[in-house]
Amino acid sequence: MPQIGRFFDETAWDIHSGGEKMVTDAKNILSQNRGARVPRAPQVSIIGKGKWTGYEELPDLDLKHVSHTEFHESPCTKEELQTGFTRPYRWHMDAPLYERLPGYVTSLHSLKNPDLPDQKLRFPSGEILPIAAGATAFYSGARAFDLLSDEEKEFALNTTVQYAPRAYEWMLDCKATDDGLTIARSGQEKRLGDLLEWSWDKVHAFPMVWRNHGNGKPHLQVLGCCVYAFSHDRHCYWRSDGHRRLDEVREICHKLTSKVYTPENIYAHRWQEGDLVIFHNRGVLHSITGELTHPSGESDPEMRLFWQCTMASGTPPTAYRAAA
Ligand SMILES: [Fe+2]
Repeated sequence: MPQIGRFFDETAWDIHSGGEKMVTDAKNILSQNRGARVPRAPQVSIIGKGKWTGYEELPDLDLKHVSHTEFHESPCTKEELQTGFTRPYRWHMDAPLYERLPGYVTSLHSLKNPDLPDQKLRFPSGEILPIAAGATAFYSGARAFDLLSDEEKEFALNTTVQYAPRAYEWMLDCKATDDGLTIARSGQEKRLGDLLEWSWDKVHAFPMVWRNHGNGKPHLQVLGCCVYAFSHDRHCYWRSDGHRRLDEVREICHKLTSKVYTPENIYAHRWQEGDLVIFHNRGVLHSITGELTHPSGESDPEMRLFWQCTMASGTPPTAYRAAA
């Protein structure tokens, strides 16, 4: 898998963009899947569901499939869950947003995949889309950009997104909107002084619209749950006066990114054992879906196992429109 990363990006570093080791710090939202790394290939993460003994000579693993019910402000009701509804957990690119740049591609390889009844997504329009349980959902950043009005395109093209310091720690207690695109309300963010040591020079700020390095097209590439501030032309939406500005930033972010959240714009990959999915991490947004909540143990019908690899890049993203 690391070779795949290098095939698509000759500047890729020989390291997973998440760092040399898996995030295991309970203060970081990324540790909640209880994943691990393959000892003979530390660029590769092991994710999935259930208890795995002696896998790759690792100590026992108890992998967790994260559920929107633990992260969304108003999760599906019990009745909805019982009738098979799920949600996109959190739309994102694989990007640490600190120190290491996001990879060009992510590869996901299904080694074990259970056969489970389909689940379904409900969209704001009321439409319902059946998807495989545990499907990985994708939307195109190019499509998301195309759907903007001319005025919104102008705004997005002239905006830089400042991500939060140690974003995945900062947002640990935050709760997301129903679509998983951003955080529902401010007030739960960690204080910057309480985060692991950090400095602004390592915190990433990226253009809101990235130029596709292959075909030159514009892509709206925003991690709405990790946004801290925008700077737009000379107007800065900085969080200088409490939470109000952060709410405004998230509202704008949601307005722009939610246009693409319709059934015809979502691809939800139906995993089959042995699949290798290589996706353009800098060109699409993706999200975990699925409620796989059976207690883990010997008779867990939801056991599954994936390898995931996304290599830190040596190349920063390019703004579709270079700053004047
Ligand atoms: Fe991901």
